[in-house]
Amino acid sequence: MTELDVVRLSTRRDTTRLGARIARALEPGDLVLLSGDLGAGKTFLARAVARARGVPVDVAIASPTFTLVQEYETPRGVLLHVDLYRLRDEDDRAKTVSDVRRLGLDERRAEGAIVLVEWGEGLEGELGGAASLSVSMTLDAAGRAASLSGLRRAAVRAR
Ligand SMILES: Nc1ncnc2c1ncn2[C@@H]1O[C@H](COP(=O)(O)OP(=O)(O)OP(=O)(O)O)[C@@H](O)[C@H]1O
Ligand SMILES: [Mg+2]
Repeated sequence: MTELDVVRLSTRRDTTRLGARIARALEPGDLVLLSGDLGAGKTFLARAVARARGVPVDVAIASPTFTLVQEYETPRGVLLHVDLYRLRDEDDRAKTVSDVRRLGLDERRAEGAIVLVEWGEGLEGELGGAASLSVSMTLDAAGRAASLSGLRRAAVRAR
């Protein structure tokens, strides 16, 4: 991975800015996988993407931790924010796969929804296929950072 793909997120504002760049790079039907440990900033970044796609400030953007899927209508189409943490069962892959399939996110993508997923790594097949953008978020002694990969990486870089 080249250095250009790593974005330092020293402040919340940096993450908000990255969210705005991602928002401008996305196309209908895109899947964005947000990975990283608990508290790494996945929900914070997803919220920034949703705001930049036009979710008005009077519409609350709650974490989908318990609802699994939060849906937003934006001037640029439907945006879904998903958290699969509670569906992941490392001892029962078949159950995880069928639970995720049941959400029907592949169809939503086919209809043009943009889907942002926390804890979705390894489940791309159930999410309608390869991620358009993967954002790996880290929080360590060096601070916060995000590494970008996937088809839309170049478009994010250009914004
Ligand atoms: N630069 C930063 N970028 C993102 N979040 C930050 C930053 N600095 C501080 N924070 C704080 O870190 C927390 C990140 O929490 P968040 O819910 O986004 O994590 P998460 O990766 O979604 O965790 P989980 O796996 O539990 O869903 C928030 O409280 C946010 O305000
Ligand atoms: Mg979260």
